[in-house]
Amino acid sequence: MTTTRHDQGDTAPASARGCPGDVTRLYGTTPPGGRDALWERLREQHGPVAPVELEPGVHAWLLLDYQENLTLLQQPHLFSRDTRHWREAVEGRVDLAKTLPLMSWHPSALYADGAEHARLRTPIMDALARVDMTEVAHTVRLLADERVDAFTAAGVADLIGEYAGRLPVLVVNRLFGLPDSYGHMLGDLTTDVFGEDAARADDAITRMQQYFAGLVARKADKPGPDLATWMLEHPVGLAPDEVAYQAALMVSASHMPTTHLIGNTMRTLLTDDRIRSAHADARLSTHDLLDHVMWTDTPFQILAGRIALQDVRIGQARIRAGDALLVGIDAAHRDPAVRRGPADPGTGAAVGSRAHLVFGAGPHSCPARGLGRLVASTAVDVLQERLGGLRLAVPPEELRLVPSAFLRGLRELPVTFTPGSPVGRGSAPTRQTARVPAVAEEEQPPEDLLGRLLSWWRGLGR
Ligand code: HEM
Repeated sequence: MTTTRHDQGDTAPASARGCPGDVTRLYGTTPPGGRDALWERLREQHGPVAPVELEPGVHAWLLLDYQENLTLLQQPHLFSRDTRHWREAVEGRVDLAKTLPLMSWHPSALYADGAEHARLRTPIMDALARVDMTEVAHTVRLLADERVDAFTAAGVADLIGEYAGRLPVLVVNRLFGLPDSYGHMLGDLTTDVFGEDAARADDAITRMQQYFAGLVARKADKPGPDLATWMLEHPVGLAPDEVAYQAALMVSASHMPTTHLIGNTMRTLLTDDRIRSAHADARLSTHDLLDHVMWTDTPFQILAGRIALQDVRIGQARIRAGDALLVGIDAAHRDPAVRRGPADPGTGAAVGSRAHLVFGAGPHSCPARGLGRLVASTAVDVLQERLGGLRLAVPPEELRLVPSAFLRGLRELPVTFTPGSPVGRGSAPTRQTARVPAVAEEEQPPEDLLGRLLSWWRGLGR
C-alpha cells in the first residue's frame, strides 16, 4: 500500500463518486452460490480495491487482496474505526444512528480508536479472562443438548432456526448471569432485528436497549460472578451506560458470526463427502474443520467500515481522507497470492494456516476467539453425536444465503435424521453437567426494568 498526499482540489475517480456504470452494488439479492465470482470480476477490473455501493447512494471502497486487507486492519493511525470521520456522515448524507448496523456509530470499543479504544476494550478483555472455560464448555454442551432435545423426536429440523441461531445468544446470556428465559427473549429480539418486518425490527432494537440497561441496573444492585458485574467493577471505572454498550457489543459481535460458523460448517459436512469422511475418521479434528470453513465459507464476507484519515493510494485507486473502506474477508481468502493454501491430499481440507481473517487483526481483533471456537466446535460435535443418519432435506442448490453484504451464512438449514430420544440434561443435571452455573428461573420476574421486559415477552407467548 502506498500512501500519497494529494492537492486540496484533487478528487476521487469518477467511479468512487458514484457513477452508476462503474460502481458495483453490494445490496439486493445474494446469488445462491455467494459472491465468489463477483470478487474475481472486481479484482480483474479494478485490481486490489474496487468502488462499491452499500445501499443506494452510499459508497465505499472494497479491499480485495489479502495483504492490503491485513495492512488496513493493522494501521489504525491511517484507517480509523470511528465512523464519525466518514465524509458521508460529516456532510450530512448519512445518519449514523440509522445507517447499516456495521457502518453506524455507538459509544463502544468497536467504534473507538487509540486511548479511548483501550479504555473501553480493557474491561471487556479482563472480564472475558475471568470466565472459567471448563465451566463454559459444560454450559455450551448442556444448552446444545437442550436444543437438540426439543427436535430430536421429529426426525426433521432447521439447524439454523432451531439450533445455530439460538445457541450463541443463550451462552452469552448465561455469561451475564441471567436465567435462560432472558436468553430466549434476547434470541427472539435478535431474530426480529434481522428480520424483514421494519416496524418489528425498530421495536426490537428499543427493547434490546432495555435488556442491556436493565441488565446493568440489576447487576449494579445485585452483583454476581458474571461479565456485566466484572465490567461494572473494573478499575477503569466505566459508567453504567458504558457497560451496557459494551455488553450490547459482546452480543452483537458474537451472535451472528457464531451462528453462521456453525451453519456453514454443518453445510460443509453435509455436502462435501471427503471432508465428512475425514472428520468421521478423526483425520480432521473439529478445530481444523472450523479453520477450513473459515477459509472457504467464511461467516463474514465483509467486515465493516474503516475511515481513511488521510489521502492514500491503493493500487490505481486514490482514496481520500473521509472515504469508507471495507475489509473484503471472503475476497482476501480467494486472493491468488494466498489462495487457501494447498488442500491436504488426505482430507481435502485447506491446510497449514490459521491466517484467515475471520477474527480480524490489529487492535480490534476479536477478544473472544477462544470462546467463539468453543461454542462452534461443541455445537458441531453435539449434532454429530446426537443425530444419526443426518442429511440435507433439500438439494444443496436450494439452500439460500442471508441477504447481507456483510454476513455469509444460510437462512435455513433443513435436515432429516433418525428420530431419537431427549437426554433431558436441562431438567435433571447429570454428573457431567452438575457444575454448570445455571441461574434458576424466576416464577415471578422482579419488578425492575429487566423483569418487566421479561413479563412483556412472556405475554407474547412465543
Ligand atoms: C465465531 C465467532 C466469532 C467471530 C467470527 C468473531 C469475529 C470478530 C471480528 C472479525 C472482530 C473484529 C471486528 C473489526 O475489526 O471490525 C471481532 C471483534 C469483537 N468480538 Fe468477536 N467474533 C466471534 C465471537 C465473539 C464472542 C463469543 C464474543 C464475546 C462474547 C466476541 C466479542 C467481540 C468484541 C467485544 C469485539 C470488538 C473488539 C474491539 O473492537 O476491540 N466475539 N469479532
